[in-house]
Amino acid sequence: MEIVILENSDAVAIEGAARIRRLLEDKPDAVLGLATGSTPLAMYRRLVADFRQGLVSFTGVTTFNLDEYVGLRADDPQSYSGYMSRELFDHIDIDRGRTHLPLCEPGTDPATVGPCYEESIREAGGIDLQVLGVGQNGHIGFNEPASSLGSRTRVKTLTPETLHSNSRYFDDPAEQPELAVTMGIATIRSASRVMLLATGSRKAAAVRQLVEGPVSAMWPATALQLHERVAVLIDNEAAAGLERRDYYDWVNRKQRQLLLRYGES
Ligand code: GLP
Repeated sequence: MEIVILENSDAVAIEGAARIRRLLEDKPDAVLGLATGSTPLAMYRRLVADFRQGLVSFTGVTTFNLDEYVGLRADDPQSYSGYMSRELFDHIDIDRGRTHLPLCEPGTDPATVGPCYEESIREAGGIDLQVLGVGQNGHIGFNEPASSLGSRTRVKTLTPETLHSNSRYFDDPAEQPELAVTMGIATIRSASRVMLLATGSRKAAAVRQLVEGPVSAMWPATALQLHERVAVLIDNEAAAGLERRDYYDWVNRKQRQLLLRYGES
């Protein structure tokens, strides 16, 4: 696991956007896995600014979002589809036909969504880089504690903590869905690379488990320890619970020296 501890949330956004830009320079038709929530917002703003300055283009890019609420229409502003349009897709040159979310609009049988989504990801050639946030309870996507570490895209019932922390996005609590379709933990682990962002002290306990805890379905993010190429970009506050912080900083300095000498592999 590459653990990069940065000064603040702005630095995390800058680093995350730079990594996406570098990937698209190497592979303009990359497949990106995208996340919602408040954490990646600043990174998306940065990518929009980069696009406006002509530093990056998304014309060949395909995207798959991690999750979506059951029962919301794509054009519902409270849906993750609405979020993605508002925060990113409406402001860049991406082909909307290549953007995907595991939509489960009213009338759709939720059980059918997961297998179709998995098939679409396979047809696109798999995900090159999966962006992730992390919930305070260690969830990734909407894989709540006790999710199978071998899970694929399916319906999950949200925990009361998750419902509470996401209630801020809903004007009327009665409109907040309690079910979501989410990529599974095995789906996320199938991405060639993973980049998890976490900022703020609210995330310190989850980050501690993710980096230093034992692999456990009770902290789903710990499954990333089994992945070959994971970068964890965190700010000082989110890193506050890490016991071996000095070591991670030292490793990073060494990595930078290697990069200067041999370039990126
Ligand atoms: C939601 C999303 C997750 C996200 C998490 C953290 O539950 N399904 O993908 O990582 O919230 O959100 P935030 O970044 O707002 O803390």
